[in-house]
Amino acid sequence: MKNFTLINIKGLVQAGENIPDLKKGEEMNQLPIIKDAYLMVVNNVIKAYGKMSEYKPKEEKNREVIDASGKFVFPGFCDSHTHSVFAKTRESEFVDRINGLSYEEIALKGGGILNSAKAMEKISEEELFEKSMQIVEKIKKSGTTALEIKSGYGLTKESELKILRVIKRIKEKSAIKIKATLLAAHAYPNEFKDNHQGYLDIIINEIIPEVSKNNLAQYIDVFCERNYFSVDEMEQVLKAGKKYNLTPKVHVNQFSILGGIQKAIEYNALSVDHLEELDENDLKTLESSNCIATMLPGCSHFLGIPFGAAKKIINNNIGLSLASDFNPGSSPCYHLSTIWSLACIKMKLTPEQAYNALSVNSAYAMGLEKSHGKIKKGSSPGIILSKKMENIAQIPYFFGEDFIDKVFV
Ligand code: NIG
Ligand code: FE
Repeated sequence: MKNFTLINIKGLVQAGENIPDLKKGEEMNQLPIIKDAYLMVVNNVIKAYGKMSEYKPKEEKNREVIDASGKFVFPGFCDSHTHSVFAKTRESEFVDRINGLSYEEIALKGGGILNSAKAMEKISEEELFEKSMQIVEKIKKSGTTALEIKSGYGLTKESELKILRVIKRIKEKSAIKIKATLLAAHAYPNEFKDNHQGYLDIIINEIIPEVSKNNLAQYIDVFCERNYFSVDEMEQVLKAGKKYNLTPKVHVNQFSILGGIQKAIEYNALSVDHLEELDENDLKTLESSNCIATMLPGCSHFLGIPFGAAKKIINNNIGLSLASDFNPGSSPCYHLSTIWSLACIKMKLTPEQAYNALSVNSAYAMGLEKSHGKIKKGSSPGIILSKKMENIAQIPYFFGEDFIDKVFV
């Protein structure tokens, strides 16, 4: 990024000094766009922006000036929920599902997360890093400039730490902003199938203290679901995490409603994620909290399960974030422009609502509301320059098409 100025921008999106850190209800309909604008970046930081009529070309010595005629400029997408570090893809399960098996049936046969954990045990840390870095590069090119990554394909102390160390290296090396989440409670390893407490004790007494000691994660996640972690089991993990200041961001209500939302909020969860299933009681609890509802339409689309009731979330004044859930089992898609399309087509969000959920609100759902998700002076959120287009609704409209000319980070 460094020093450059974009001029003649057709529309500068989500730019302003007073954009809320979290948008709710009616604010979700508001997406400020400055027409015929410029944006000046000095030493990687946004120095100035505004109408072309206020632009002072004299200040432009020794910097690149890029003509953005006909193009739109956005703050980079924020992806607040991904499992981007994994050892191998799982297309054979994809084919199994085409042939009629469900995600849950595949998992019960020993596939799913346990399948990923087997591969994780075998891969070297170096190879995992190289592979993951390549993926993160592709993620960056797709316009995502802030990315949360979870562990969770390790399921042993050694493997979980290996993943988190790799995430730490990505954080140091990649140009985009990375946040790490510990998800050791993603599934029970086979040897603990009938001894849940045995694995919980390892998470609580060994993994969490070690992760904290080495500063390897800021957030803690649990897959709270039937056949995975019960609400009581999740509570044990969140309680242990709390002692080490790990903030919950949890998987709940993907297939069933167990009361996980209420429990997570009791432990001050920053976000509750998935929510394909949601009842009135859940909505009431969320409404009276500041917890973000994160929805993952890529997972609904790929697994053929219901899409979350995103409109209801907005109408009930609850903070809505959208994320990719990028992972090899249930959502092998990191393109947030595709997620944008799915949110519009399947969840009936307007293009503005969906983009707010992918920028400002998703930044908030990963603790980056001060630095990412919007264009304001003094910040470096990463910048997307689009190809020529008529209006921003064309992005979700031309689903599957690459709308990006360049990403600056
Ligand atoms: O968010 N639901 C749990 N975890 C992941 C999928 C894990 C996998 O199948 O690899 C998810 O969908
Ligand atoms: Fe997930």
